[in-house]
Order: sequence, then C-alpha cells, then structure tokens
Amino acid sequence: MPLLASSYYCGSSVTATLSRSTFTGLRCKECGHPYGAGAKHVCEDVCFGPLEVVYDYDLIKSRVSRATIEAGPVSIWRYREFLPIEGDPIDVGTGFTPLLKANRLAKRLGLKNLYIKNDGVNMPTLSFKDRVVSVALTRAKELGFTTVSCASTGNLANSTAAIAAHAGLDCCVFIPSDLELGKVLGTLIYNPTLMAVKGNYDQVNRLCSEVANTYGWGFVNINLRPYYSEGSKTLGYEVIEQLGWQLPDHIVAPLASGSLFTKIRKGFDEFIKVGLVDEKPVRFSGAQAEGCSPIAQAFAEGRNFITPVKPNTIAKSIAIGNPADAPYAIDIANRTGGTIAAVSDEEIVAGIQLLAETEGVFTETAGGTTIAVLKKLVEQGKIDPSETTVAYITGNGLKTLEAITGAVAEPLTIEPQLASFNAAWERAQALHRANPKPLA
Ligand SMILES: Cc1ncc(COP(=O)(O)O)c(C=O)c1O
Ligand SMILES: [Zn+2]
Repeated sequence: MPLLASSYYCGSSVTATLSRSTFTGLRCKECGHPYGAGAKHVCEDVCFGPLEVVYDYDLIKSRVSRATIEAGPVSIWRYREFLPIEGDPIDVGTGFTPLLKANRLAKRLGLKNLYIKNDGVNMPTLSFKDRVVSVALTRAKELGFTTVSCASTGNLANSTAAIAAHAGLDCCVFIPSDLELGKVLGTLIYNPTLMAVKGNYDQVNRLCSEVANTYGWGFVNINLRPYYSEGSKTLGYEVIEQLGWQLPDHIVAPLASGSLFTKIRKGFDEFIKVGLVDEKPVRFSGAQAEGCSPIAQAFAEGRNFITPVKPNTIAKSIAIGNPADAPYAIDIANRTGGTIAAVSDEEIVAGIQLLAETEGVFTETAGGTTIAVLKKLVEQGKIDPSETTVAYITGNGLKTLEAITGAVAEPLTIEPQLASFNAAWERAQALHRANPKPLA
C-alpha cells in the first residue's frame, strides 16, 4: 500500500474552476477569508478558524425545485446541488431513511406530534456517518487521494472502511482501543488497516492531525472536514421533505463534536434561502451523556466556550471531550430557544429500551441519549406536547450490544417438549402479571 499519496499536494492546491458544480470554494467561518476548493480545513493565512464550503445559491435556486428533488434518487444524492462535489457521486444508497410517526412513544411521554428520524437503518453501515463519508470520499476521489482515513469514535470507522472498499480506495482508520466489538469487527470486515490507539478519542484525533500532515492522506474529518460535514445537512433536508415540505417546531439531536447539530440547522436555513420551505422558528435541543458533557456543562453555565473533559460513559460514539463545533452548537441552542442537556448512563440504557419497546427501533447509545434527553425535556416542560418534534436516531443498537447486556430479560431455555414449554409459559405469565407492561 503506498503510504505517500503525491496527489495530496495537488489536492491542496486546487483552485476553483468548477463548471458543473454549485460550490465555488472554501471560506473561513470566522474571518471570511477565501480559499480554493482543496483539502484544507483551517484558516492558515489569517485566524486559524474552521473552513466551510461556499455555494452559489442563485445557481442552486435556478436548478432545483420541490419537483426536481422529488424526481431524484432515493438517497442523499437527490440533494446533490447542495453538496460539494463536482462529478458523479459514490452512490452506496446512503440516505432517505424513514421518518416514523412515533405515536406509542409520544403517548408514553405525553406528546402528540413526535417523529423519529431513523438513521440506524442508513446504508451501508447503519449510522448517520454514511452521509458524511459518502460526500467526503466522493470529494477525496475528485481531489486525487488514493488513501483515506479518519479519527473515529466507531461509526465513522465503520463507514469510512465500507465506502472506501466500495470505491476501491486504500483505507487506514484510527479508533480508541476500548470500543465495542460491533464497532471493531464492523470495521475490520472491510479489510482496512485499523489502528486501535491506547487513548481516548481526543488523543486519537491529535495523533491523526500529525499523521495527516506527514502522510498526506485524505482524512475525512480532518483535512476533508469542510466537505465531510456538509453531508449532515441532508438530515435537515430529508426531515423537511418527509414532513410534507415543512419545518418541525423542535428537534432533539445528539452532540459529539457538535457538527451534526450545526449542519441540520444549515440544511434548514438553505432550504429557506432558496425558497423550498417557508420560514418559521425551530427550537434546537442537544443531547449529551453526563460522562462526557462539555457542551451541556458550558450551556448550563451560560458559557459559549467549553472546558475539555476526559470521557467516561457507555455512550462511546459521542464521547468527545474537546468538541470542535461546541461554540456554534451552543449559539444555535441559545438563538433558537432550545437547550443542551445531559443524562446518566442508566438513563441512556432506559432510553434505548423505551424506544425499542414502544416503536420497534433498536438504537445504539447515542440514540438512547437522545431519547433520554427528550424524556427529560418533556418532564421539565421544555417541549410543548403539541409541537412537531423530531428526535434524531443516529445509529443502530446491534453495534453496542454491550450497553444492554444485563438490562434485558434472559431467554427462557426449554426442552423441545410441550410440557417444558407449558411450564415455562406459566412462569412467564406469572412474571408479566407481577410486572405488567405500561399501557400505550
Ligand atoms: C451515532 C452517532 N451519533 C451522533 C454523533 C455525533 O456527531 P457529531 O460529531 O457530528 O456531533 C456521532 C459521532 O460520532 C455518532 O457516532
Ligand atoms: Zn480566518
């Protein structure tokens, strides 16, 4: 496997001549300084702020309508005019996941209009990360990278390894060494090089920044981050379209780096800007695990900057102690009248169980965090029962089985005879009579 991709250097120096594309380059989010459309994520010339993609919204407006989008593929690529790619996308069927009307969960919580956006069934690796990686690897190929990489809390490694395999790219991914088996085996099966780093995500991320500088690979969430993060906007577009071209009143989403949260907002704003949906206020509320809640802590204390923490939670996929997009996420929660709250590991497991029992959706710990925060916000009166609320479920429970081991019932092991079944069924019925299921 070639370790040095010479194309990295050509990728970095690309200047924008993007005839087919609606994006025109990069720009610093803080000072506005312009950059070409290469592999760069920091404002090196001026202020070290993060870079973001710039679009020609008049061109987008002239090309899209509700009808053109509805006639597009049943994937994120129906929104390709809003995504930073030039040519053909890597299409692995990512996106357009179900938006479920969650009536039974709503009733249990005391809500009337609750929806679950279920990215636990996203393709190909059952998390929202397939969205960001589909975009990042399409751009990586366009920029000439032959080796791709990432610093991951688990889902991103699954996704990068899978989509790199499909696209024929060499892949070396980095994770903390203490991740769940489903995340580890669910990466190794695609046969990348997997580096299990003895440290937490923030240490993995620091190491990866050095590797990115030295080896010149395309790191989806480092030097390709401006492109990668744009993939999350599709979680905003899809909800608008699936609600019948309307905005919800309130959304609840999990926060790790905070990128997903800010990009759902950007997705909503862009559809308003090009006239695809009518503007109305939407409250943005964020969910963290108490064992890694730097953003919730800053929010509670009225700060817009975080104090880094050392993660200690079962919600490993959202365990980022020094989140890059925290100030932007806090700003959005404040400006929209939302909140950012944290829940305990016990509440996270109960959230996973509640969603599964009421809606038949088995989520991982990040989704358990979202449901537990949703419940907490309802109890605190921070969600109006009649408002249209969307809870974002971003990953699949089969990848974090460790989290629910011991929390669910044991199977009743029986002999292959009717008498054995009869006796076991009696015991099961007695147990149910002693512990009746809640109505709803
Ligand atoms: C399942 C899941 N949900 C949510 C997130 C949060 O993503 P972000 O870093 O964009 O805040 C992650 C991040 O890895 C994740 O794996
Ligand atoms: Zn700058």
